[in-house]
Amino acid sequence: MQSTLTATTDYRPGLEDRDWSFKGATTDYGTHDLHKYPARMIPQIPDALFEHWTHTGTLSEGDLVFDPFSGSGTTAAEARRHGLNAIATDINPFACLLSRTKSTVPDLDTLESAIRQCLGTDWATREQFIEENYQSAASQHRTKHGGDIYTEDSGDQNYNAYGVRKGWFPEPQLAKITAMSRQLSELRAEYDHEVIRFIRIALAQAARNISYQRDSEFKRHRIPEADRESHDPKFTETFIETLRENFYGLVDYATQVSDETTATIKYADCRDTSVLAPDSADAVVSSPPYGDHSTTVAYGGFSTDPAAVATPLKLDQMTDVDPSGLGGSKTTSDIEFATVSEWSPTLRATVDALKDVDGRDDDVLHFFADYAETLEQMARVVKPGQPVAIVLGNRTVSRVPIPMNVITIEIAQQFQLDLEHSLPRSIPSKTLPYENAPENIPGQTGGLIADEYVLIFRAGQ
Ligand SMILES: C[S@@+](CC[C@H](N)C(=O)[O-])C[C@H]1O[C@@H](n2cnc3c(N)ncnc32)[C@H](O)[C@@H]1O
Repeated sequence: MQSTLTATTDYRPGLEDRDWSFKGATTDYGTHDLHKYPARMIPQIPDALFEHWTHTGTLSEGDLVFDPFSGSGTTAAEARRHGLNAIATDINPFACLLSRTKSTVPDLDTLESAIRQCLGTDWATREQFIEENYQSAASQHRTKHGGDIYTEDSGDQNYNAYGVRKGWFPEPQLAKITAMSRQLSELRAEYDHEVIRFIRIALAQAARNISYQRDSEFKRHRIPEADRESHDPKFTETFIETLRENFYGLVDYATQVSDETTATIKYADCRDTSVLAPDSADAVVSSPPYGDHSTTVAYGGFSTDPAAVATPLKLDQMTDVDPSGLGGSKTTSDIEFATVSEWSPTLRATVDALKDVDGRDDDVLHFFADYAETLEQMARVVKPGQPVAIVLGNRTVSRVPIPMNVITIEIAQQFQLDLEHSLPRSIPSKTLPYENAPENIPGQTGGLIADEYVLIFRAGQ
């Protein structure tokens, strides 16, 4: 009787026995919802993997996990919750700031006093000053959309003086957001960067909530023009609410991580071999982009306004992100198109089908040649015999399906990454269009991702 009870308590489902869809799971616990970065991986995936691997002895406390595509930092944050160290890369400097914030716990008392100070009497005076002066400035310069009121330009006619695209924010809220950002720069003299960075991420999310950008669509869209005049959210209240929620999330996270572990986030192309020595990571857990940023998810485009209004990041750093993503106009690979399509018969067949449709075959080959290099990098840095988990979905290009899961498995073989599990998951809550229809009509979508896969490989011995 006793042994049966023990066996029941100890029972843990194997990787194949779990439901990887995690329907109904709460995904915003701890620091996971500090900012709504696009295409975040649900934390339950790294959580389940780390739980399984630490329980089965594949990973031990203090081991190192690598995430080449950090995004918001889900893998790094979860690794620390499981007593593991993390290293991650991203070519988006805003994603790097967010990942660091999500996986670091600043001193909570100091953070609380910085929050009090940035919303104290000085702020009330500044806010009132903006309100009064804006009213007089606005009466002279006001045009239909808030962003157009600026007389002074940043040089590019599409951007206003704050370095954000015109017409995406109401006024005077934009002036208040950027004034708060300046105040945070001043507070930097008194508080360390982790404290100020935490507040900046909340400011970036509050700015997103205040902007004209609509929720629930993947491409950037605004609320209808007719509704913009009446869109008048209160800056200070929105910011305080976001800060409060983020702070509670951090307090929750703080109880779950130990000072013994660290997360290192590098602003780098994940293919850069100086990022990590060969055979140095104990596991890889990552979700790569599904295609070049310009036809799938514009991570840079989504991050540019939050970065411009809430952080000291430069506009040109941000506009560089999308062309520098895999398959982007600024990237090249040492792996030839012919080589990658030789490695993957499925890629070759896909490209042939595309050739017949509309000649986008080279775009797809470009993406997969870059992507193959990232698989090579994962295989290079992971220790022999250790796991590599890749979460991905399939998309369509010009309505031709791109079976990225099969292509990944075929290319990975070249680097002695042997498939152990292909775990399908359905994502009913994800209504996000991964590619605009070929007609490129905003809001209309081509293929939707119906499924994702968690592919688990073992590195060759
Ligand atoms: C699907 S998102 C990752 C989401 C992440 N798992 C999360 O939970 O937030 C893919 C990320 O890859 C980044 N990226 C694209 N090309 C890259 C490259 N060559 N090196 C590093 N990061 C890259 C993008 O900027 C984006 O943040």
